[in-house]
Amino acid sequence: MSATISGFSKLSKSEKIDWIVTNYLSNSEAAKQTITQYFNADNKLQQLHDEFIENTISNYYLPLGVAPNFDINGKTYAIPMAIEESSVVAAASNAAKFWMKRGGFKAEVLSTTKIGQVHFMFDGDFEELKLYFNSIKPKLIADTKAITANMEKRGGGILDIELRNKTEDLDNYYQLHATFETLDAMGANFINSCLEQFAKTFKAEAEKHLNTPIEIVMSILSNYVPDCLVRVEVSCNVEDLKDKGISGKAFAEKFVRAVNIAEVEPHRAVTHNKGIMNGIDAVVLATGNDFRAVEAGVHAFAVKNGKYTSLTHAKIEGDVFTFWMEIPLALGTVGGLTGLHPLVKIALQILGQPSAKELMQIVAVAGLAQNFAALRSLTTTGIQEGHMKMHLMNILNQFEATNTEKDSIVNHFKTNTVTHSAVVTEIEKLRQ
Ligand code: MEV
Repeated sequence: MSATISGFSKLSKSEKIDWIVTNYLSNSEAAKQTITQYFNADNKLQQLHDEFIENTISNYYLPLGVAPNFDINGKTYAIPMAIEESSVVAAASNAAKFWMKRGGFKAEVLSTTKIGQVHFMFDGDFEELKLYFNSIKPKLIADTKAITANMEKRGGGILDIELRNKTEDLDNYYQLHATFETLDAMGANFINSCLEQFAKTFKAEAEKHLNTPIEIVMSILSNYVPDCLVRVEVSCNVEDLKDKGISGKAFAEKFVRAVNIAEVEPHRAVTHNKGIMNGIDAVVLATGNDFRAVEAGVHAFAVKNGKYTSLTHAKIEGDVFTFWMEIPLALGTVGGLTGLHPLVKIALQILGQPSAKELMQIVAVAGLAQNFAALRSLTTTGIQEGHMKMHLMNILNQFEATNTEKDSIVNHFKTNTVTHSAVVTEIEKLRQ
C-alpha cells in the first residue's frame, strides 16, 4: 500500500491515525486499536508527549529498569536504564554487585569542553582573512551577550574562537572553531545560537572590511567532543577475581586477552563497544539525553587514531588487575527533556539530582560494568546461557503462554539449557 498527502501535520491526531490506518494498515480496526491503546488516560500527560515531536500518533513504550548496588567513588547508586534488550539490566546489576565487594568503581571527569563550528568559504588572501578575524573576534563574542549572559553568570560560556584554515582538505574552506563550557546543560541550543550569531556578525562585518566576500555554509555544534572526557576504572587483587570455580589468575588473564583482541581487531572491537553502549545508551535515554549524539561521538573517539579499537583497556600489573575506559560524553541534567518528561525527572531523582559531571561518571560506569559483564560471560560460560534465560520470557510471550505455563516452564529451564526449540517443545508438551 502507498499513498501521499500534503498538509499531514495540519490534521488532528485522530485524523492522522485514520489516514495511516486507511492508507497503510488495510483499514484494520485491530491496528487502530493497537495504536490507540497506548494513549495515556491523563490527557495533559498525553498532550505533553504528543508535543515532543511532530505528527505523533501514539506512545512507544520501552521498559524502564533499575540496576541497583553501584558503588561509584564510595557513593551508592541505583541506576535507571531504558532498554528493550532482555539481559542488559541483569548484567549491569551483576557487575555492580561483583564490584561492590571489590572496592567499587572509581570515576573522574577529565574535561568538559564542547565544540561548535561555523563552516565558510573564502576565495581570497588568507593573511587578509587572518587580520580580519583577529580584529573582529572581540565583536563576535560581544554580539552574543544576550545569549551568553545567563550561562556566564553561572560560570560557563564561550571559551575561545579560532580561525582554522582547511583549504588543504577542500578548496576555499575555512572554519570558525569555537569552544564552550555549558556546565549542567548539554548545550546544543546554546552553542548553535552562539554559532549562528557568530556567522551573522562575521559575514556582515566582512562586507565592510574584506575585499573578497565570505560565504557561510553552515553553523552547527560538533558531536565529536574528545575534550569532554570521563575516565572510569575498577581494580582489585587478581586473587579476588576468583569466581564460579575459576581461579582469579586464570580469569584475569583470559579477560585481559579478550580486551586485547578488541584492541587490535576492528570486527571484534565494534561488538565489544556495542556491549559498552548497551549500558551507556540505556542510562542516557532514561535521563533524557541525546543517545544519537553520544553514539556518534563515542564511536568517532574509538577510531581517533585511524583504526577502530576497543574503548576499554585491561591489565595485570603484579598482583593487581585493572580495567578502565576513557570516553567523551556530552550530557545535560538541565534543559531539554530533563525538565519535561516525568519519567526522566524520576530517573534524575533516583540518581540524586546529579550535576552533568556526576552523570558523565554514572553513565560511563554503566558502560564499563556492561562490558565487564559481557566479557565475563563470553570468556567463561558463553553469552547464550544468561542471554537465553532472560530471553525465555520473550519466547513465552510470543506463544501467549499463561502465567501457569510460564511458572512451569521457567522452573524447567532452571536446570536445562534454553533454546528456542527447547522452549517450543516444552510449551507443546504442556498443551497436549
Ligand atoms: C550484546 O548486545 C552485546 C555483546 O555482544 C557484547 C560483546 O560481545 O562484548 C554481548
